[in-house]
Amino acid sequence: MKLLLLGSGGREHALAWKIAQSPKVEKLYIAPGNAGTSAIGENVDIKATDFQSLKIFALEREIDMIVVGPEDPLVEGIFDFFKSDIMLQHIAIIGPSMKGAQLEGSKEFAKGFMERHNIPTARYKSVTTETLDEGLAFLETLSAPYVLKADGLCAGKGVLILSSLEEAQKELKEMLNGMFGQASATVVIEEFLSGIECSVFVLTDSEHYKILPVAKDYKRIGEGDKGLNTGGMGSVSPVPFANEEFMEKVRERIIEPTISGLKEEGIIYKGFIFLGLIKVEGEPMVIEYNVRMGDPETESVMLRIQSDIVDLFEGVYQVNLDTKTMILDPRTAVCVMLVSGGYPEEYHKGYPITGFNLAETTDSLLFHAGTTVKEGRVVTDGGRVIAVCSYGDSKEEALEKSYKVADLISFDEKYFRRDIGFDL
Ligand code: AMP
Ligand code: GLY
Repeated sequence: MKLLLLGSGGREHALAWKIAQSPKVEKLYIAPGNAGTSAIGENVDIKATDFQSLKIFALEREIDMIVVGPEDPLVEGIFDFFKSDIMLQHIAIIGPSMKGAQLEGSKEFAKGFMERHNIPTARYKSVTTETLDEGLAFLETLSAPYVLKADGLCAGKGVLILSSLEEAQKELKEMLNGMFGQASATVVIEEFLSGIECSVFVLTDSEHYKILPVAKDYKRIGEGDKGLNTGGMGSVSPVPFANEEFMEKVRERIIEPTISGLKEEGIIYKGFIFLGLIKVEGEPMVIEYNVRMGDPETESVMLRIQSDIVDLFEGVYQVNLDTKTMILDPRTAVCVMLVSGGYPEEYHKGYPITGFNLAETTDSLLFHAGTTVKEGRVVTDGGRVIAVCSYGDSKEEALEKSYKVADLISFDEKYFRRDIGFDL
């Protein structure tokens, strides 16, 4: 088949790497892709949210399947766009409908969904300028720290955690006054949960589901999980505390009610569900839903799936995912992200990257996150630059390999965390 993958980060390079291994794929396009994906398939210069151009391209190249990497096209309704067009209906879209994507696109919708289906999550109240007083009063019923979330998509920046009530009340007003534009016209106030987090990924065809390998990501820029939030500085899979007993609770209390809840509400969902979970006194609770794979979790998770992922995608499209088997690699997989100095704040782009040839002789894999080709050279083109991924019989062994390669790759102002997996 001819497959089009949307997106341009490390997640998409890892997905492209896995998809390209499938004997079912005769041609792989990535829109827009990065320097890494161009070595696996053909990059196409179309933005993942430019539906009209994607339509023309899909028809011209007779695309059979579109796998959606990032959330934006899903929240903007790419599934519905293709399904409502008679010329495009036959194309399999791996990703939820616009309504399903609201699980990520609207925190208020997600909280309401969890409430309707008895899915364990933090206590909350959703407020707008009209109900500000109720919000301020709700904050008073909570204890510090306070969690405020912009309802809409904010590229990972819409969550504030405040240590005092005064600060929380002040920030609530500022959020409602447009701190994140329209995205914070509604704010979800949440009770703070204390525990350890992990990312659980589910692939569903709307009727059946498969649980993918669990991963943990490291979001803060600094070692010891200190400093500003980033898109993710590394990941590890599996996660020892997500043991059989814990996962059974996740399946029973979270995954099954989510799948049946979507069905009851008439929501078509054929894609990935990303559960951001927190383990509170042994019990799983949902911090957030995302409607795509995580980045940099995908870089570790793809290494651990041995089965043909395109076969699984076919199961999603044909609603027979239950007939497919998913074989996992028992080894540990890790990802260490090399980033541009200054990230997640100001940083430079365009620095040449060297050392790929040195790294090639190791058994680590490099996934490009923010790179591009300029005058024939691979140069930095984002905050997160390269994901160095490795297998090991233990977390320590895998990390040692990744750190060795991380030292071999050079670009100006390179930075990475040396403590990925420290808390597992
Ligand atoms: P989100 O964008 O919803 O993933 O939130 C970003 C991060 O904020 C999460 O990964 C958590 O570390 C933290 N967070 C969000 N909600 C809560 C909560 N209710 N209690 C504690 N931490 C939270
Ligand atoms: N790694 C977290 C995310 O992709 O949202």
